Amino acid sequence: MDKFVVRGGNPLLGTIKVSGAKNSALPCMAAAILTEEEVILENIPQVHDIETERRLLTSMGAEVELGYGRAQHRTHIKCAILSDPVAKYEIVKTMRASSLVLGPLIARTGIARVAMPGGCAIGGRPIDLHISGLEAMGATITQDHGYLEARADRLKGAHIVFDKITVTGTEDLLMAATLAEGESLFENCAREPEVTDLAALLVAMGAKIEGAGTATIRVQGVAKLHGARHRINPDRIEAGTFLVAGAITGGDLNVDCCEPKHLGALISKLEQCGVKIDVGADYVRVRSGGELKAADITTEEYPGFPTDMQAQYMALATQAEGTSSVTENIFENRFMHVQELIRMGANITISGRTATIRGKTPLQSAAVMCSDLRASASLVLAALVADGETILDRVYHLDRGYEHFEEKLRGVGAQIRRMGDVFGKK
Ligand code: UD1
Repeated sequence: MDKFVVRGGNPLLGTIKVSGAKNSALPCMAAAILTEEEVILENIPQVHDIETERRLLTSMGAEVELGYGRAQHRTHIKCAILSDPVAKYEIVKTMRASSLVLGPLIARTGIARVAMPGGCAIGGRPIDLHISGLEAMGATITQDHGYLEARADRLKGAHIVFDKITVTGTEDLLMAATLAEGESLFENCAREPEVTDLAALLVAMGAKIEGAGTATIRVQGVAKLHGARHRINPDRIEAGTFLVAGAITGGDLNVDCCEPKHLGALISKLEQCGVKIDVGADYVRVRSGGELKAADITTEEYPGFPTDMQAQYMALATQAEGTSSVTENIFENRFMHVQELIRMGANITISGRTATIRGKTPLQSAAVMCSDLRASASLVLAALVADGETILDRVYHLDRGYEHFEEKLRGVGAQIRRMGDVFGKK
């Protein structure tokens, strides 16, 4: 298993480029199931979850060509024949987003067998809302031997009010509704930019959707969708991780090729911490404004502070003067990075869903263990300011969602190298 070796102490200086959003690319790839024609997606990030989804679609009979060139990261997907509409456990066990194929599969083929998903170990993460939504649209769903089996002749439009805001749940039902008979009305939907990105692709494929990006989405089902070409949004979580990297190291970093509009909650929090921020059309520059100051965060659905930035923000909070509180509202059990940060010298206590961080504490290098995707990023950020050489084990978690992370950071002055097998050969 690969490890990272990070030597702290260098301020990050220069320009770093953001890749396409993994969490947009995954539902957009699943959307290709909805048509027999070719779907071309650009700005696909070269990360492990995308490779998993490629294997998933291929195992069902789709043709998927992933091209990573200098100019474009492009994928061509053609689901002309879906001979085996099954998402097998061996493929989906590492990726919870596999549940995204449930809606499109049943809408297109009338039958889907999908293994119950694995993915990051951050809380129970049920998919009951995907299931009850598809049932309301007329699907019959049974569960056996760890698989969900869904059947429907043709899904019917339905009025669904989500009990809880769910990103992939919104995406799954949105895809299903595009080919359902009649109108669907979804309320209390996720408003994340990834939902809007998916809806833009679906509309380009011929779907009739109104309201994506708001809490209420209306879909008029159509009989058929066609091929389309679509460019994936920049990854707001990768961009946010780099902004924190610039801030925590007291550097001067231009985070380029991003969508600043998607970073509002993080940018205002960094400003509260005393960091200087300049926002351009497609870049955000982050500069040291002197000592970091403590500020509290509470994770919320978009446009609130993203849970996927909570761990990285906590690394920053260890370097801020004063007491910060971090409240995690979206997932239980998403504080697995805390023990590792404490081992590096952080002063953090947890009570229920709230972590209290007392700073500033000098961080020391240590051997630490990555536990999930964003926790891994948090530990890299902490290591960038620790004294000495930190060794991070299990970086395969990080490879699931960050493209060429260490190369990008090295390009702006970080001392970070990979030890062990090369990417993809674990
Ligand atoms: C997506 C993102 C993930 C991010 C999360 C929250 C992808 C591939 N992943 O995950 O990076 O951290 O949004 O922004 O886009 N819930 C239920 N029942 C359900 C579905 C969800 O109770 O059927 C709960 C979850 O346990 C959680 C909350 O709803 O407490 C939000 O989860 P959800 O938005 O569904 O997260 P994901 O879509 O899995």
